[in-house]
Amino acid sequence: MDHFALVDGVMHCEGVPLPAIAEAVGSPVYVYSSATFQRHARVFCEGLAAAGDVHLAYAIKANPNLAVLRLLANAGYGADVVSGGELARALAAGIPAADVVFSGVGKTREELVRALDCGLGQFNLELEEEGVVLAQLATERGVTAHATLRVNPDVDAGTHAKISTGKRENKFGVPIDQAPAIFARLASLPGLNLRGVAVHIGSQLGDLAPMEAAYRRVGALMAELRGAGHTIDRIDLGGGLGVPYRAGEVFPSPAEFGAMVARVTRDWGVTLMFEPGRVIAGNAGVLLTKVIWVKPGVTNPYVIVDAAMNDLARPALYDAWHDFAAVRPNGRRMTANIAGPVCESGDTFAMGRDIDEVVSGDLAVFRTAGAYGATMASTYNSRALVPEVLVDGDRFAVVADRINPETILAAERLPEWLKPEA
Ligand code: LLP
Repeated sequence: MDHFALVDGVMHCEGVPLPAIAEAVGSPVYVYSSATFQRHARVFCEGLAAAGDVHLAYAIKANPNLAVLRLLANAGYGADVVSGGELARALAAGIPAADVVFSGVGKTREELVRALDCGLGQFNLELEEEGVVLAQLATERGVTAHATLRVNPDVDAGTHAKISTGKRENKFGVPIDQAPAIFARLASLPGLNLRGVAVHIGSQLGDLAPMEAAYRRVGALMAELRGAGHTIDRIDLGGGLGVPYRAGEVFPSPAEFGAMVARVTRDWGVTLMFEPGRVIAGNAGVLLTKVIWVKPGVTNPYVIVDAAMNDLARPALYDAWHDFAAVRPNGRRMTANIAGPVCESGDTFAMGRDIDEVVSGDLAVFRTAGAYGATMASTYNSRALVPEVLVDGDRFAVVADRINPETILAAERLPEWLKPEA
């Protein structure tokens, strides 16, 4: 459920007509709904009500906009970060360092030090050597690093290969069968309080069964670790719950997810951590775009819009589907290909799609663009970096500026030897 709907024939975000945003800010532009973020944050939290002591760390990578982080901090969420840059954002948004989890397979020593210095709540270790280095850095500073060991449960999440993370051949976590030995070695190190296990098998999961399988393996590992005398008081079950991208698609609800979690973890006696990203942000945003041309094609016309793969990379990267809808639908339909202006054929959002009829100059949206949208944007083809707008009721604000090609050009330099002779 989201807050993008037609009011008197014009698509609104909450109380704001989208044409008003296009007029004020131009296009393309991401538009986010505060009420949708808040609702998703609440529903996810309520879904886990029966699962006992739960801590929620929003996966910043899904949508790291400062205003979004602030909204979610206000809703009681901590943060899951994967870089020094994301850590800085979490802190800038006012999320206490103690509520931040640091995930990621390639944390640098500099990033580990920065995180230790700010009093980070939890490091999710991805390999034994990382734990050794972290323990040493913590000891040097006279502090204790709280950590979990991320395991790779060798479970096929049944999602797109590029966003699967829990198969043995993926780069993430330590093999679950080696976890007891690695855990024992790391748990003995001074400076490190290794207190649990983390798992995350992939993103956009539409089936709870692989998650349940992974969680059960983690439960068995936890019992084994406890049997060996280790204290386990935290289990991080990651993120990954998927969202519908096509109208009519049905995904497991947060309540169904929560019921599964409660069932599997009933006797665990730990604090459960979660790192939801897409389920919070996905349907809270659209990419607002304008039709530049409707160009005749061989089978279907091409609707050329002013948004491109540099603004919304998911279709080009994962063949992802984003529903497309006119802002002022006239009631007629057309079959068309939808593409952006970037000079490669991969810059195509849809082929042979049944869509609202549009003509040059019309506004339209790509839906479900609140997660992994703006954050994955680039300036390819020397296009501007796409701006972001946050709506709250009947007001809106630009929460990320459009960064124009001139600004990007201004950060580039000619070396001395290429400068024109004076
Ligand atoms: N925790 C960890 C350790 C992760 O790697 C991720 C996502 C999450 C949590 C959040 O997962 P979510 O709840 O959002 O599924 N760019 C891709 C998605 C990449 C996800 C990477 N990791 C896309 O556009 O589909």
